[in-house]
Amino acid sequence: MAILDQHKKIETNATLLLALSFVVVTIGGIVEIAPLFYLENTIEDVEGMRPYSPLELAGREVYVREGCYVCHSQMIRPMRDEVERYGHYSLAAESQYDHPFQWGSKRTGPDLARVGGRYSDEWHYDHLVNPQSVVPQSIMPSYAFLADNEITGARIGDLMETHAFVGVPYTEEQLELASLDFIEQATDFGDPGVVERYPGAQQRDFDGNPAVTEMDALIAYLQMLGTLVDFSTFTPDESR
Ligand code: HEC
Repeated sequence: MAILDQHKKIETNATLLLALSFVVVTIGGIVEIAPLFYLENTIEDVEGMRPYSPLELAGREVYVREGCYVCHSQMIRPMRDEVERYGHYSLAAESQYDHPFQWGSKRTGPDLARVGGRYSDEWHYDHLVNPQSVVPQSIMPSYAFLADNEITGARIGDLMETHAFVGVPYTEEQLELASLDFIEQATDFGDPGVVERYPGAQQRDFDGNPAVTEMDALIAYLQMLGTLVDFSTFTPDESR
C-alpha cells in the first residue's frame, strides 16, 4: 500500500524520523504550554480558602522544621482508592498559600491533607507525645518535647510579612494584630476577633496546658487541614 511505503521511508531514515518527531513534539508542546501564558490565573478560586492564621502558620513551621513531610504527603490524588480513603481530591487552591507546599510523594504514614476534625485534640496530643499509646503498631517517632516549647508569637508578624511579600494576601489589619491573634486563638480569652479575621479558625486551648506551646500550634494546624472548603457545595469550574 502506498501510504505504508511512504511510512517506510521515515522508518528507515533515522535523520528524517528525528526531524519529523521533533516537529510533532514541538507542536504538542506549544498546544499544551502556550495557553498557560494567556490565562490570568491557573488556580481556580474556591470559596472558603484564606491565608493561615498566625497560630496555624506557626504550627506549619513546626511541621516543616520537624520534617513531617518525610513520611506524610498532603495531596489526595483523584484516584478512587485515595478519594474513598481520604476524602475529596485536593484542589490547587487548597495549597495556594503554602510556601513551601507540602504535597510530597512519600507515604510512610497516611496522607494528612484532610486530617482536620478526624480526631480530637486529645488524640493528637497523645499521638504526638507517644504514637504507640494510641496506635500500638505505629512506627511514628515521639514529638513529646513540643509540649514543653513555649512560644510567644513575637516574630510571627515578621513571618507573615515575608509570606505577604511572596503573594499571600494578608491585610494590614491581619499583619498588625498578628501577635494578638496568635495568643488569642490558643487561649480563647473571649475576643472573637481572630475568627472574624480568619473565618473558620478554631479557637481553644489545643493541648490542655494554659501556656502557648509548639504543641498548641501544631495541633491547631493539623485540625484545620482540609476543613476550609465545603465540599458539599463545591462544584468544579467546567469551563477550564
Ligand atoms: C518516620 C515516619 C513518620 C514521621 C517522621 C512522622 N510520622 Fe506521622 N505517622 C507515621 C505513621 C507510620 C503513621 C500511621 C500510624 C499512626 O497513626 O501512628 C502516622 C500517623 C500520623 C497521623 C494520623 C493520621 C491518620 O489519618 O490516622 C498524624 C496526624 C500524624 N502522623 C502527624 C505527624 C506529624 C505532625 C509529624 C511531624 C511532627 C509526623 N506525623 C511525623 C509516620 C511518621
